[in-house]
Amino acid sequence: MDRVQIFDTTLRDGEQSPGATMNVEEKLAIARQLEHLGVDVIEAGFAASSEGDYESVRRVAELVSRPIVLSLARTREQDVDRAVRAVEKAKRPGIHIFIATSDIHLKHKLMMSRQEVIDAAVWAVSRAKKHLDYVEFSAEDASRSDRDYLAQVFSAVVEAGAVTCNVPDTTGYALPEEYAELFRFLRTTVRGGDRVIWSAHCHNDLGMAVANSLAAVQGGARQIECTVNGIGERAGNTSMEEVVMAIKTRRDRFGVDTGIVTEQIYPTSRLLAQITGIPIPINKPVVGDNAFAHEAGIHQDGVLKYRLNYEIMKPETVGLDSNRLVLGKHSGRHAFVARLKELGLDLTDLDMNRTFERFKALADSKKSVYDEDLIALIAQESVRGQGVRDRYELVYLNVTSSSMAVPHATVKIRIDGEEVLGHGTGDGMVDACYKAIGDLTGMHPELVRYAVKAITGGTDAQGEVTCLVSEDGHVVTGQGSHTDIIQASALAYVNALNKLEYRRQYRQRQQAEVGP
Ligand code: KIV
Ligand code: ZN
Repeated sequence: MDRVQIFDTTLRDGEQSPGATMNVEEKLAIARQLEHLGVDVIEAGFAASSEGDYESVRRVAELVSRPIVLSLARTREQDVDRAVRAVEKAKRPGIHIFIATSDIHLKHKLMMSRQEVIDAAVWAVSRAKKHLDYVEFSAEDASRSDRDYLAQVFSAVVEAGAVTCNVPDTTGYALPEEYAELFRFLRTTVRGGDRVIWSAHCHNDLGMAVANSLAAVQGGARQIECTVNGIGERAGNTSMEEVVMAIKTRRDRFGVDTGIVTEQIYPTSRLLAQITGIPIPINKPVVGDNAFAHEAGIHQDGVLKYRLNYEIMKPETVGLDSNRLVLGKHSGRHAFVARLKELGLDLTDLDMNRTFERFKALADSKKSVYDEDLIALIAQESVRGQGVRDRYELVYLNVTSSSMAVPHATVKIRIDGEEVLGHGTGDGMVDACYKAIGDLTGMHPELVRYAVKAITGGTDAQGEVTCLVSEDGHVVTGQGSHTDIIQASALAYVNALNKLEYRRQYRQRQQAEVGP
């Protein structure tokens, strides 16, 4: 069986989604999970774009051992050198060099001639090759480029040492048959084209990223670049879970395999949603809440008689156990840890005492703890496990409201270990609470978005609150879950303030290192 490499760019192209910015520790938690998921390549960032990105690439490179770790780079000297330095500690380092090849980009963005682009690409690939073997080259906007010229560019970079040739549909413009045909043409036309891995990188502007990636495989591509939950610029990138499950479910047509441990798909998807605060649409294939829910009587009856009547994939295959009721307040630590292991969750670096305490508190406030609750809990704790210590901690909250009185909140929080108590009034209970927290911490970022959703069903379900706050143009996401949604809202806000605080401290450290 032929193998298709899965190249995950959640930490680079995915992070380019509005509001998806992650800090280093969050990226490390994702990278660890991606390794667990079995991806072949992790694009950890764009090292030359910022200090934060450089640091993330460097730390991811040190953390994971099986996947190739890449940094993106333009064809400039400082980009290539910085990318090479950022991945130097990786067990399997790589670099991903790109330059646009379409006439539109050459004329209106790069202001370069076709020959100048070829020279820049060859120069950058050759420079990278002096330091490492694994060099991928991308022809940005390939799907709108003149195909004979494109073949010329790829021939030149293959000769310079590129081992993977990526053919991005940067603007999401391609149609499946046309994209497959482009791969067939390139594979047979490019000099040395039979020695390299051909790669598909699709954007979803017309909703065809997954279809195009699959067509590329039929045209001979053996790498798919994708993101968890399909996050990415504009309408997003190819969704990892959809493309992987299509290849697995329709093996009869594709005749290829990926190395993805599909049971890790659901935990990975939830972890990313928790960290970025970008919700998963309920009808999203594979990982949406309704992906395996049968509502119509006729369907329910059909599924009960024989599952395959309406199910083409088993929920267990993607890590969603149909037997979801797992633990309650009488469950001991042993059962708790055993269930986490069964779910395949990565427990490395978790403070198990604290995690178990949090589980007990949750089990006290809700009768049944479902797999989704556990996944949400571990997602929150795994970010802490990467060494982030929160400055603010919610200790106590009392909110009163009625149709006749102004909502009032009393809040106690711990700041650097010291407890402080404050009050606030507002338009509603959440507003009162946020005002009290704002006064206590002295932080008043703008609340850009606030959303609440139930993690599981039932009136005692945990509410999961996501809030997006902005300070000096920098947006962070806070998340909190609790059976009481006002508590969940307060936790989400405190979480967002901790992230802003973390960023402030990070910037201060950077400035101190650079010096006056
Ligand atoms: O969409 C695109 O063209 C890219 C390249 C940098 C590979 O993300
Ligand atoms: Zn892209």
